[in-house]
Amino acid sequence: MNQPDPLAARLVVARGVLDEAGALALSYFARVASLAVETKTSGQDVVSVADREVEQLVRRRIGGAFPQDGFLGEEYGFTPAGSGYSWVLDPIDGTSCFLHGIRNWCLSLALMREGVTVAGFILDPNAGELFAAVAGQGATLNGAPIRVDARHDLRGGLVSVGANGRVPPRAVTGFIERLLAAGGMFVRHGSGALGLAHVACGRLAAYYEPHIHAWDCLAGLCLIREAGGWTNDFEAGDLIAGGPVIGCAPHVREEILALIAATRREMTA
Ligand code: IPD
Ligand code: CA
Ligand code: CA
Ligand code: CA
Repeated sequence: MNQPDPLAARLVVARGVLDEAGALALSYFARVASLAVETKTSGQDVVSVADREVEQLVRRRIGGAFPQDGFLGEEYGFTPAGSGYSWVLDPIDGTSCFLHGIRNWCLSLALMREGVTVAGFILDPNAGELFAAVAGQGATLNGAPIRVDARHDLRGGLVSVGANGRVPPRAVTGFIERLLAAGGMFVRHGSGALGLAHVACGRLAAYYEPHIHAWDCLAGLCLIREAGGWTNDFEAGDLIAGGPVIGCAPHVREEILALIAATRREMTA
C-alpha cells in the first residue's frame, strides 16, 4: 500500500481543524461582551478564554493526528518536535479588536519542516475568507489563486503598519511620518496576520511592524512569498523572541526599505 505523503496529510488536518477552531472563535465573538478580559503585560496586551480555548482545541486535534510534531502557540508556548514538522499558531490574532467587538481578527497557522515554513493558513471567520499557501505551490483565497498588488506604487497603495508596546513608539511614528511625507498612506489592522494576508491578495501594498512574533507572521509571510511578493527573512532570526517583519509587493520594496532604514538611523543617532 502507498504511504500517504506526510505534508499532504498535514494540510488536510490543518484545514479541518481551522474550520472547527474558526467556528469556536466565532461563537465566543458572538458573546464577547460577557467575556472576562485579562491583562498580560499591560492594558494593551490582553487575553480571554477565547484565545486559550481555541489554542487548546488546535493543539488537541494536531497532537492527536501527529503526536511527534512540535508546536509553538502564543498562549501555551513551545513543545519541541520529535518529527521534522512543527506548527506555529496564533489562536486569535487581533485579540484587542476581538475583545472590543471589532471584526479585525483571524486565526493564523503555519507549518514548518526542518525550520522552514512550508505552509501557511490565515482564516478570517467573519469575512468567510481562508488564505492558504503551500511553498512552491502558490497562494489562494477560498481556493482561487491570489497575487500581490501590481497596480499601485507607494503613493497609490496602502501600507499597514503594526504598533505594539514592545518597541519605542518612535520606531512606528518615525516610519509613518516618512511614509506620509513620501505621499503614502497607512492603516493599522490590529491583526498583523490579517494585514499580511491582505498584502498577499493585493489589497495592501505592504505590511511593516518593527517587532512581531513568529505566531503572528509566519503564515502571512509564506502567503506573500507564494503570491509573488517579497518578505524579510524572519525565519533566520530568533523564532521565539521575534523580530521585525516586512512583506510587500516587489516593486515597492526599495522605497519601504529606505523609509525603514531612515527611521532606524534616527533611532540609533
Ligand atoms: C498582535 C496583533 C497586532 C500587532 C501586535 C501583535 P495579538 O497580536 O497582531 O496587530 O501589532 O504586534 O502582538 O496579541 O492580537 O495576538
Ligand atoms: Ca496577544
Ligand atoms: Ca498575534
Ligand atoms: Ca493572539
